[in-house]
Formats: sequence, structure tokens, C-alpha cells
Amino acid sequence: MKTYRDFDNYLKNFPDEKGYFGEYGGMILPPELVPAFKEITQAYQKICNNARFINELRRIRKEFQGRPTPVYHCERLSSLLGKCQIYLKREDLNHTGAHKLNHCMGEGLLAKFLDKKKLIAETGAGQHGVALATAAAYFGLACDIYMGEVDIKKQHPNVIRMKMLGANVIPATHGLKTLKEAVDAAFEGYLKEYEDAIYCIGSAVGPHPFPMIVRDFQSVVGIEAKEQFKEMTGNLPDVVCAAVGGGSNAIGMFEAFLSEPVDIVGVEPLGKGEGVGEHAASMKFGKKGVLHGFESILLQDENGEPLPVYSIASGLDYPSVGPEHAYLRQCGRVKYEAVNDDEAMQAFFLLSRYEGIIPAIESSHALAYAIKHARNQNSGSILVNLSGRGDKDIDYVYEKYGTGEQFLKEFINK
Ligand SMILES: Cc1ncc(COP(=O)(O)O)c(C=O)c1O
Repeated sequence: MKTYRDFDNYLKNFPDEKGYFGEYGGMILPPELVPAFKEITQAYQKICNNARFINELRRIRKEFQGRPTPVYHCERLSSLLGKCQIYLKREDLNHTGAHKLNHCMGEGLLAKFLDKKKLIAETGAGQHGVALATAAAYFGLACDIYMGEVDIKKQHPNVIRMKMLGANVIPATHGLKTLKEAVDAAFEGYLKEYEDAIYCIGSAVGPHPFPMIVRDFQSVVGIEAKEQFKEMTGNLPDVVCAAVGGGSNAIGMFEAFLSEPVDIVGVEPLGKGEGVGEHAASMKFGKKGVLHGFESILLQDENGEPLPVYSIASGLDYPSVGPEHAYLRQCGRVKYEAVNDDEAMQAFFLLSRYEGIIPAIESSHALAYAIKHARNQNSGSILVNLSGRGDKDIDYVYEKYGTGEQFLKEFINK
């Protein structure tokens, strides 16, 4: 088991040159795609230390994205729960309403550097699609976004946003028609035009170098949050938590805290229950396997085929998880917990009603964990990565739950 003391030089050594975090990660690709991913790796290694690239990214973050996003103390919600104080890192206030733009602007800049003409990606909740379409518009590039037919219906406002930004939204029509199928279709699309396009993966998943690139671009979240939290309170938080789909917002938040004496918790979706197809809690029920070009923890059947997954949050609906998370769990530095749909929805309504912030359903999973934690503590603090805002979810939520009175009543009666 590793502790925070073992993480001082972590970033220098992980991933290794083959893209592995311990036994997880790698670049498991059809041979024709290997040169394209190697080209991306080399270009990234060149530019990530280049002062012009770094300065341009800093300028974009400040002037276009509106960074730094604030840390906010939820005073009303905390006092409702007891004595533990809940804080939010407000990635919902990042331009386009979620953390996804942090890596999309970096990937767009990388595409420009490589002289690519098109950005290609998948999307689940539509947040990555919107963020990438935004980056494409900003940099003057074409953009193809693959999205499951089910998610196209569920996340309608984001589909309109992508189209308005000039992206082609291409439905994935096979299988469960959600996030995994969108990734399958995006890979197929990329295979046809990898010379002129770049695949901008939507999370800290996929073949090397993407888990590393996405982590590096997202790490601004944790770096800012640590400084801001210290400035506000004079201390570090006792616990840091974030929702985990593929793991981009979580790894971005966690990285700065790995070498600090802070408990770190990733929160997965337990959906409707523990049966096959009822959840997407890969860490809880999965085992080592390969999907979409990398080795990680995978929800799989006896033949290694990915199992069907479900979550009320389209962006958490993925049968695997980023390889760095698999490693961090294996070495015991990060704990992974699961929260079900109802707990997430209760958190959604509580934050809306007690703090005036409507969170994304994905982020509500992390918040639900923080609420449970705060109820069981007599002191201390927990910092939640509020990865996105809930505007994209309100039509769906209102139709299903109205204004959430039953959740609020249940909470008061507990
Ligand atoms: C707001 C928000 N939070 C979290 C996620 C989950 O993705 P990740 O685990 O890569 O942060 C998504 C995915 O779409 C999202 O839209």
C-alpha cells in the first residue's frame, strides 16, 4: 500500500514510456493506427515543454475559458448536514459549463501544431462534444462528434449546441446506443482519416498518450483548487472527491493532492442496482481487461466482452475507467466508492435548493458522496469537484422527477 509520501516524484515516472501506469494503460491498436498515435505522442512531448505553447494555453484559459474557476464554501448545505464543511471547485463555471474544455482547448492547440484539419471525438452527456466543437470553432477546424442515439435524445440541448458551433453530430446506432458505442464509432471514423484528423478522446481513457495528455491538461483543476482552498481556510481539505466516468475531472482534481496528507475518493455510478446492466461501477465489479486500445479495469463477461452498463448520468455510462485510476486504486492511494441514481438525484436537488447551483447529474454523484460523508463527521472538510452545470439535464430531470419534492422530503425525514 502506498501513502502520500510515496508520490513526490510520481508525475516524472507515470506513465512509463510505453504509456503504462503499473500494469494498466498501453497502446493496443490496429497496426495502421500506431504511427498516428506515435506522432501525437512525439508532438505532445515536444510542445508540453515549449514556452510558446504553454503561454498560449495560459492565455486561452484566462481570456477565453474564464479561469481560474473559484472554490466555493457551501455554508447552508454544510450547516444542514452537521459540522463538516463542504466546498466545491466550480468547474461548472468554466466556459461551456464543464471541465471538458480544459483538455479540449489543449487538444485543439495540439491539432494546430500538427497541422490537422479536423477534430474527431465521441461524447456521452454531450459536454465533451460541446467543448470540442467550441475548440474547433475557436481554432477554425472541422469537427465530427459521435454520439449514441439514446444520448442524442436525452441530452438534446447539447446536441443543438454542438450543431450551432458547426460540428457534425453522427449517431451511433449499434448496441446500447450510448457512450461505449459512440467510442466504437469514433474509432472507426478516425481510422478512415487519421492523416488529416486527430482523435480527441473525451476522458482520461484510450490508448497512450491520451490518458496522460488529458490528465496533464486537466491538472489545472487540482493545482488551482489546492491554492484556493489553502488561501480560504489556511489548511488543506481532509478529503477530496470527484465523480468518475472515464476519469478526466477526477484525475485533474486528484493529481495535485496525491503527495499531500489528504484522503482521495473517486465516485462511480451504482445506477439502479448491482445486477448486470444496472450500473457502470467498473471499479467495484470489474476486473482487468482491454477496451478501446488500453488495459484497465473492465466490466466484462466470461469472454472478455464489455458488459452493458447503465447510469442516469450519460457521462458516467462507460464499462471501463482510465488506467491511472486503476493503478491508484491498486496501490491504495485513492479509494473508489459507488453512489446510486437516487442518491445522486437527491444531491442534485439539495444543491439546487440550498445553494442556488444546479449541478450536472454526473457531478451530483460526487456531491452525494460528500453529503453522506459530511453527515457522518463531526468536523473537517471535503472538497468536491463540481465538474459541470446541470442545464443540459433539466428537461430530462423535470419530466422524470418534477422539482424533486420527494427527494427533499425524504432527506428531511432521515
Ligand atoms: C459534467 C461532467 N462530469 C463528469 C463527467 C464524466 O467524465 P470524466 O470521468 O471523464 O470526468 C462528464 C462526462 O460527460 C460530464 O459531462
